[in-house]
Order: sequence, then C-alpha cells, then structure tokens
Amino acid sequence: MKRIGVMTSGGDAPGMNAAVRAVARRAMSQGLEVYGIDYGYAGLVAGDIFKMERSDVGDIINRGGTMLYSARYPEFAQVEGQLKGIEQLKKFDIDALVVIGGDGSYHGALRLTEHGYNTIGLPGTIDNDIPYTDFTIGFDTAVNTVVESIDKIRDTAASHERTFVVEVMGRGAGDIALWAGVAGGADEIIVPEKEFDIAKIAENIQALRARGKKHTIIVLAEGVMHADEFMTQLKAYGDFDARSTVLGHVQRGGSPSARDRVLASKMGAYAVDLLLQGKGGIAIGTENNQLTYHPVTELFDQKHQPDLSLYEINKSLAK
Ligand code: F6P
Repeated sequence: MKRIGVMTSGGDAPGMNAAVRAVARRAMSQGLEVYGIDYGYAGLVAGDIFKMERSDVGDIINRGGTMLYSARYPEFAQVEGQLKGIEQLKKFDIDALVVIGGDGSYHGALRLTEHGYNTIGLPGTIDNDIPYTDFTIGFDTAVNTVVESIDKIRDTAASHERTFVVEVMGRGAGDIALWAGVAGGADEIIVPEKEFDIAKIAENIQALRARGKKHTIIVLAEGVMHADEFMTQLKAYGDFDARSTVLGHVQRGGSPSARDRVLASKMGAYAVDLLLQGKGGIAIGTENNQLTYHPVTELFDQKHQPDLSLYEINKSLAK
C-alpha cells in the first residue's frame, strides 16, 4: 500500500475536516502518499483528485464544513459511474479510499467494495443515523447548536407565554431531537421512532398551563412532519398562541465541538491503521466507547436505533 485517497460526501458535518486531517497526517506519518478527492463521488468520477501535503490540512481542525467540498451524487447508484470512479482511482495509482459521510456515502462505499475496490467508511453526518456506531462525526456539534437555539427560543417563549414548535434535522432519525430535547429541557419531543397523539399533546400543554407553566417548547424531528403542519394540527385542539421555528442548515455549520474533533481524529487514524493491516471493505464506528469496524456489506442489514430511553426520561422530567 503506497497511496490512499480521502473524500467527504453527502451533507457536510462539523468535524469532517478533523477527520480528513487525521487520515492525511496518520497516513503521511506512516510513509503513505495521500490524495484528496474534491466534491465526493461527483469529483471522483470527474477525476477531481490532487496530491495532499501535510500543510493542506493545517489549521482546519477547528473549521466547520469540509475543505474537500461535498456533493450529493445519486448518479453513483449507476454501475457506469462506479466503474468510472474506480478507473480514476487506478489512473492515480490510489490503492484504497477512505470515504467520510452518511448513509448515501456508505452505499457508494458498498458499491466500490462489491467491485473489489478497497474502501473504508467513516460515519460523518449530523443525523447520527448510521448502524454500528453510537455516534457519528458532527452529531455532537449539531446537538449543541440546537440546544443554544432552544435556550434562546425559551427566552421569548417565556416572555410571551407562547408555545414553540422547533423543527430540527435528522432526516428519518430522531437522534438530534432526542438529545437536544433533553438537553434543552423540552416539554415534548416528537420523533419518527415513537407514535404520538396530537390531542394528548394539546391536553398536556393545557395541564401545564393550569399548573402555571405558560410557555411550552416542543422539539419536532423533521422526519415526522413540518413544524407548520404540526402547529396547524395542534391549533385544532385549542387556542394556542403558537409559533414554529425551523432551525435548518444552521445545524450543519460551525466549529466542531471538542468531542467531534476527538472522535474524528480517532476514527481517521484508525482507518489508516486498519488499511495498513490489510483490512478494507469496512465501516468504522464507536461502540461503548471503543473503536470498532464491521464489513460494509453488513451495514444495511442493520437498522439504526436512537437511544429511546431519552424519550422516556424526558416524559418524566417535563412533567
Ligand atoms: O443528512 C444531513 C442533512 O442535514 C439532514 O438532516 C437533512 O434532512 C438533509 O441533510 C438536508 O439536505 P440538503 O442539504 O441536501 O438539503
């Protein structure tokens, strides 16, 4: 093994830069050459590939976004694109590829593995929706961003005695809502993994009001429905002075938390060590605070489950 490639793909996540840095620096310190691939799978197919130097990854550990840029590239589902990508990797004599990204990026990694090309996946997404890892790179920062926003919304909600529906990202997963909801002291957390009853929620809000708590914070995962729609449904059950806030892409930006930087650094270095041990076709995770890996072929047999104990805990704390 002489040369490895590294790329980021799908939605960016804070800490991706720290992961790129870790892959590049660990590989270079082991005498490997490192090639950066810009714009994820789109750049791979287009041959947007360059040799990286140590200095290329200087001063990026603290930066959000990704210095390698990112793209969504559904075209990579086609065999033609996959073979073109492998052709580009061979043209640059790149022996193995490290892909940092979420669900879609892992599908791409799986396809490359099926074609016999050595690929390692690192979980980089704010959604935390990757199987075989307790945490993904970017999740902690996103949760902290949401909590900061909830704290601010609480100020105005309390001043006006209003109900706020705060919509957070996560695609089909409720992890961001659960963690930020508990940390932000939400009265209700609504996630795709748990059924809910709007009539009951309206009843709870009325009960809180009767007890003197006149403002309410509802954290809603985007995978359930849009905040406006939720608010409209809620208003059908009572005369709530309600507002909705969609936090949106602010959740994807910002300087990564120390926890995300450390996770990215550990995973990036581990990926290189595994490649040097001859391993490939795998996805890296952290389970019970230990770095782990699983064949990427097995990844999609497993469904991600958020920590639903947070949902139960919040039910008793919010009362
Ligand atoms: O997967 C990360 C994520 O931010 C999701 O939480 C969200 O649903 C989606 O990406 C938004 O994607 P885009 O930036 O392509 O609109």
